[in-house]
Amino acid sequence: MRCLITGGAGFIGGHLAEALLKRPDVTAVVAVDDLSTGSRRNVAKVMGDPRFSLKVGSILDLPDLETLIAESDAVIHLAAAVGVELVVHDPIRTLNTNVYGTGRVLEYAAAHGIRTIIASTSEVYGKSRKDSFEESDDLLIGAPTRSRWSYACSKLIDEFFLMAYVRNRSFPGTVVRFFNTVGPRQTGEYGMVIPRFVKAALNGEPLKVYGSGRQTRCFCHVADTVRALTGLLDCRAACGEIYNIGSQNSIAISELAQLVIAELNSSSGIETVSYDRAYAKGFEDMLRRSPDTTKLSNLLGWRAELPLKKIIRDVADDLASMY
Ligand SMILES: NC(=O)c1ccc[n+]([C@@H]2O[C@H](COP(=O)([O-])OP(=O)(O)OC[C@H]3O[C@@H](n4cnc5c(N)ncnc54)[C@H](O)[C@@H]3O)[C@@H](O)[C@H]2O)c1
Repeated sequence: MRCLITGGAGFIGGHLAEALLKRPDVTAVVAVDDLSTGSRRNVAKVMGDPRFSLKVGSILDLPDLETLIAESDAVIHLAAAVGVELVVHDPIRTLNTNVYGTGRVLEYAAAHGIRTIIASTSEVYGKSRKDSFEESDDLLIGAPTRSRWSYACSKLIDEFFLMAYVRNRSFPGTVVRFFNTVGPRQTGEYGMVIPRFVKAALNGEPLKVYGSGRQTRCFCHVADTVRALTGLLDCRAACGEIYNIGSQNSIAISELAQLVIAELNSSSGIETVSYDRAYAKGFEDMLRRSPDTTKLSNLLGWRAELPLKKIIRDVADDLASMY
């Protein structure tokens, strides 16, 4: 199997490349990445593997993107403008990459009938107040005057695009909606909460909790996420379907800050920062964001297995190794 990973030098992409190259049936992994939020460090472990190659360029204008896709047996499309801070501050880049870039990938993959999985996000559930979200739920996105929703909307357009190709062109495509995925090599630079907290705790700096801290989230180890992705890739029954991928153990962000401090024996304190100060005036957040993963569990017997303490430890070990 020849695999193409767009965003392959990203956080999830790098871990996926490593996992795919451990499989004897995988003959090539090509990563396409513009290295905007990704880095060579994410693929350092596979750089020496002759079956791996990194093509630096943007999905928006890479001239040989169609050829690369046509030569693949499977495409995992992860390239996107990612991270709440980046999205809030650069909604034009978000919309361009996530709508036109994904549009290009899907057009070529559908034209050549290539098995494809695209990454969407729990953000598409928007401001809906359910305790846990199912893939068939209605979605409640905020107003366009709030730029944070540009990410959810752009990913939702991607989902509609994929479903249209499935329906009208028998395209073997699948959507995955990642809930917070965390692990080694994830950067806190673009607003990801666990690497941000761990870095502050290791440096003895205050952990900045945005908003009240009562908002809850579920954190899934990237190794569990990658196991779900490779399982779905092999599964034809997943074509034309949407799957939540995430942990079902939720924690309030203020408790997460305390847990990080305790786990890392840190002397750091906790500072509360208003959303207006952290992001932009009028920033809207969701109180709860928890996945119902019954659909994926019924298909693959998958569930997130690695506990939050292991995630914190792995992120800390990775950050410590950089200094
Ligand atoms: N990590 C999470 O918790 C999470 C949650 C929901 C959805 N997702 C989705 O999963 C995917 C992977 O996210 P990640 O966490 O690995 O983030 P990441 O930023 O590490 O990965 C995205 C990669 O895409 C690359 N990229 C961006 N624009 C590009 C372009 N125009 N052309 C080529 N490459 C481009 C970046 O350089 C980066 O390597 C994204 O689609 C993201 O929206 C992630």
